[in-house]
Amino acid sequence: MNLFRKNFLSCLILIFTFFITISNGATSIAPAGRSYSCSVINDNKLYVFGGDPFGIIGTPQTIYLDISLIGTPNPWYLLSDIPISVSAANAVFNGNNTVFLIFFNTVYAYNISNNQWYPTGSNGIVPQTRTQATAVIDKSGKIWYFGGTNGTTRIYFNDINSFDTSTYTWSFGSTLNVPTSRFSMISIMLPNGEILYIGGVDGSTRSYINMAQIPVYDTISGSWSTMNAVGDNIQGRQLFTAVLAPDGNIIIYGGNNVINSPIPTMATLNTNISPYTWTANKTGQGAPQYITGHVAAINGTHMIIALGATSKNGTFELTNSSTLNSNLNYNIYALNIQTNVWSVNSTTPALPTSIPSIPPTPSSNIGVILGIIIAVVIVIFACVLVFAFCRKCKKDKNIIPTPGSRDYQQQR
Ligand SMILES: *[C@@H]1O[C@H](CO)[C@@H](O)[C@H](O)[C@H]1NC(C)=O
Ligand SMILES: *[C@@H]1O[C@H](CO)[C@@H](O)[C@H](O)[C@H]1NC(C)=O
Ligand SMILES: *[C@@H]1O[C@H](CO)[C@@H](O)[C@H](O)[C@H]1NC(C)=O
Ligand SMILES: *[C@@H]1O[C@H](CO)[C@@H](O)[C@H](O)[C@H]1NC(C)=O
Ligand SMILES: *[C@@H]1O[C@H](CO)[C@@H](O)[C@H](O)[C@H]1NC(C)=O
Ligand SMILES: *[C@@H]1O[C@H](CO)[C@@H](O)[C@H](O)[C@H]1NC(C)=O
Ligand SMILES: *[C@@H]1O[C@H](CO)[C@@H](O)[C@H](O)[C@H]1NC(C)=O
Ligand SMILES: *[C@@H]1O[C@H](CO)[C@@H](O)[C@H](O)[C@H]1NC(C)=O
Repeated sequence: MNLFRKNFLSCLILIFTFFITISNGATSIAPAGRSYSCSVINDNKLYVFGGDPFGIIGTPQTIYLDISLIGTPNPWYLLSDIPISVSAANAVFNGNNTVFLIFFNTVYAYNISNNQWYPTGSNGIVPQTRTQATAVIDKSGKIWYFGGTNGTTRIYFNDINSFDTSTYTWSFGSTLNVPTSRFSMISIMLPNGEILYIGGVDGSTRSYINMAQIPVYDTISGSWSTMNAVGDNIQGRQLFTAVLAPDGNIIIYGGNNVINSPIPTMATLNTNISPYTWTANKTGQGAPQYITGHVAAINGTHMIIALGATSKNGTFELTNSSTLNSNLNYNIYALNIQTNVWSVNSTTPALPTSIPSIPPTPSSNIGVILGIIIAVVIVIFACVLVFAFCRKCKKDKNIIPTPGSRDYQQQR
């Protein structure tokens, strides 16, 4: 009986270890709400880096959300800390297991496969330190880091710098026809190698940049131009999000412009037509209202919005803990970009009305569940084998294994 209990315990420990291993050592948490985080998406996981949790400026926390599992309790998991606390940093994913996080003028690398941070070098012409800049990565693994500000020295930047992630070398980009200095804008990399810079705050005038005047940097020819978009009027903003949908539409969401929440909350920039065209979208039922400082990502079919704060008519104040506390967003929103249906904390549509809903059967889930079942069966089978073997041992040697018995035997 003792023998059985001991082996059963080992078995439990094995199974437990196994589950820890499959979740990559991640611990599920209910994270403190936060703003000014940056994020990347890969394989239905939304990775969020740093930010300002309640009452704190900057955190080293890395958390992730499995967006195929929205609707289950505690969907956030804690990963390895960034080597330093960051806020308003930039994260880019190289499509190859590595996230590069740029903070001030230092690049940190995170290996998604082994959950480890490692330092990169900084060769070449290192850009001046800054915050609220923007970064994207191109297909060749070059990061393009533009704009930003140094709040202390009140310097506003308009230089574009590239960082080669294979040689860790910084280089200056083109200064010809460079746009005015700005911060808190968003960059979107188009498949043709052009980067669009949308919104933000102008460094010299400190006013919100016209959303229709879009600086474009061509990473192939190394030249700047301006796209004057047409269509609906979209109010200037900062702390908003922009994602590129597979159909070439850029979807922007939320943000703030200090005195109020910019209108419209959601808009689409069609980059398939020239000039690019803005359309104000209606936000359907269940959409986040007045959200700012959040993160957003698109996985092909769904735009996910998480974290940040909701500010009724511009009461968003990062420095005021009491406003933050009451306004932080804990909901996870998913917009089906094809049906314009929003869901909150769930993958099932909030409005099962006229749109026929396909039952949620993500194949990856079935894979995971099957994997777990098979693995558990293997582990149990292994335990049974060990158990049978030990019974044989017992018969052969009549030794009842107790903790430390092996040491005892060796000492003898
Ligand atoms: C995107 O995410 C949604 C909900 O979070 C999920 O239901 C869907 O399967 C995902 N789509 C793709 C293409 O990964
Ligand atoms: C991806 O990683 C492999 C192995 O480290 C490397 O050979 C390859 O060049 C990388 N690709 C990109 C786009 O970085
Ligand atoms: C990332 O981790 C995986 C798994 O440990 C390893 O095979 C790979 O070489 C690592 N990549 C880098 C760039 O360190
Ligand atoms: C601003 O510049 C000062 C002096 O160079 C530096 O110590 C500080 O880190 C900079 N701040 C940012 C946000 O880059
Ligand atoms: C929003 O705030 C502005 C400025 O304080 C005020 O004029 C306006 O009436 C407010 N709007 C709403 C809907 O509360
Ligand atoms: C912070 O916000 C609260 C609630 O809106 C307000 O009562 C308080 O005066 C604000 N504090 C500061 C320092 O602005
Ligand atoms: C969504 O989940 C969060 C975190 O568990 C919770 O705080 C929030 O109230 C939920 N929202 C809804 C609408 O159920
Ligand atoms: C937003 O508007 C654009 C342009 O009219 C449209 O193509 C798109 O489907 C709309 N987005 C959603 C989610 O409804």
